[in-house]
This record gives sequence, C-alpha cells and structure tokens, in this order.
Amino acid sequence: MTATLEDAPAAEQPAGEIPTFDVTLRVRRYSPENGEESTWDEFTVTAHGTDRVLDALHMIKWEKDGSLTFRRSCAHGVCGSDAMRINGRNRLACKTLLKDVNPDKPITVEPIKGLPVLKDLVVDMEPFFASYREIMPFLITHGNEPSRERIQSAEQRERFDDTTKCILCAACTSSCPVFWTDGQYFGPAAIVNAHRFIFDSRDDGATQRLEILNDKEGVWRCRTTFNCTEACPRGIEVTKAIAEVKQAMITRAF
Ligand code: SF4
Ligand code: F3S
Ligand code: FES
Repeated sequence: MTATLEDAPAAEQPAGEIPTFDVTLRVRRYSPENGEESTWDEFTVTAHGTDRVLDALHMIKWEKDGSLTFRRSCAHGVCGSDAMRINGRNRLACKTLLKDVNPDKPITVEPIKGLPVLKDLVVDMEPFFASYREIMPFLITHGNEPSRERIQSAEQRERFDDTTKCILCAACTSSCPVFWTDGQYFGPAAIVNAHRFIFDSRDDGATQRLEILNDKEGVWRCRTTFNCTEACPRGIEVTKAIAEVKQAMITRAF
C-alpha cells in the first residue's frame, strides 16, 4: 500500500530523522532480446521526502532489478540524459520530486516518444542528434581572424539568451505530435539551437541555417501546439523561439 508524506506519523519519527514513505513505480520494460512487445513492471520502494524519480529508479536498479536500464549522468538537471515520460508528461527524472507527482498512486515511467526504444527507458537519440547537427550548431564567421575578442553588447547577448539554456534532453522534440507522426520533422530542439546562432550578432551563418529550416521538414511543420514549451525542463520559450525563426524567414524573403 502506498502512503503520502502527510500520512507519515510524525510521532513515530525519531527527532532529526527524515520521514519516509512507500511509493510504487510502474515502469515500461522492453528488451530487444526477447523480441516481444513492451510490458509493465511494478516496484515499490521506500523513499524520503526529497527523493526524486531518479532516486527511486536507482533504488529499483540497485536493490530489486539490476537489469532495469535508463540513462543518467549528472543527476542535477544539467546533462539532459534522463528525459522520460513520468505520469504521461516529459520530464527529467532527476528534477522530478516523487512527492510532486502524486505518489498515492503508482507513478508511470516510460521512455520518451517518437524515438526507437533500445531497452527499457533508453531510446536511440541518433535521429534527434542528426537534426541537431544539420542546423550547424556552431559559430560561423567569414573574413579575417579577429585580432581581439568579438565584442557583443548586453542587448545583443540578451537576444538569444533563452535559447542558450538548452541541454539537448529531447523532452521538447519527443513531446511534439508532428514529430511523432513520422520523425522527419527537424523538431523544436534543432530549431531552438538554430535560433541560438541565427540571432547571435557574431554569427555569419544565419542565411544558411534559415535555408535549411525552410525545408518541407523544417519550421513550417510546426503547428504551434506548445507541447514543447510545456515539456522543456529549462523553461525555454520554445514555441516563441520557433515563431521568431519563422519571422526571420519571412522578413529575409525566403
Ligand atoms: Fe530539452 Fe528544452 Fe533543449 Fe528541448 S529546448 S532539448 S526540452 S532543454
Ligand atoms: Fe510541435 Fe512545439 Fe510546434 S510541440 S507543433 S514544435 S509548438
Ligand atoms: Fe543529468 Fe538528469 S541526470 S539532467
């Protein structure tokens, strides 16, 4: 039986000890070896009030089923490797507190959608990174090497500040219904990262990037669904960035 933090009887907790509670995770499992459809496994673990979904997954892996497979690295919302669907919503497991996702009921944990599942919660990120590479995510400059650093005003830096925050977690792209349909759409993450350079005053590659994104699988496939903005763990205004890239295309007559 699961219980909430509030249910933990304070009188039974020795002074100074953090209350614990039981929580059940319903995890979608898939193993390529057996070639069968994915299944659901349930695990109940004892967690502390400040534990995150990632902590619960670690408890399962270390104490109950070592074959459970998922990606994580930094455990602090920086590397972007543990995006997954938690209770039907894309989130980073390391930034999602168990107590914030209704631990009274089993918490469902699934791989992000639209990318091939390799094992359990691990998806093949290559199609995602292929789109990212295509928009040339690096500074392009023409002319002579500068003899000093490239000066940029605070206002010029501010123009693309939001899109510099991307950690390439794919939560946005894998929440986009257009991407789910055939996976051909560049996806919001690639456009966010194009935005980061298109609006950088030091960059000379905006025209090339806009031509790439003017493709039939580019920005015009976005239907302004806003799933991407809601999913972004960095709070990036993804849909707004996409709209600004569309606007740049129009005003530059592509
Ligand atoms: Fe993740 Fe946000 Fe970057 Fe999309 S824009 S990849 S959701 S950090
Ligand atoms: Fe998809 Fe975001 Fe556009 S969810 S349709 S890329 S606004
Ligand atoms: Fe790095 Fe979650 S493990 S962002």
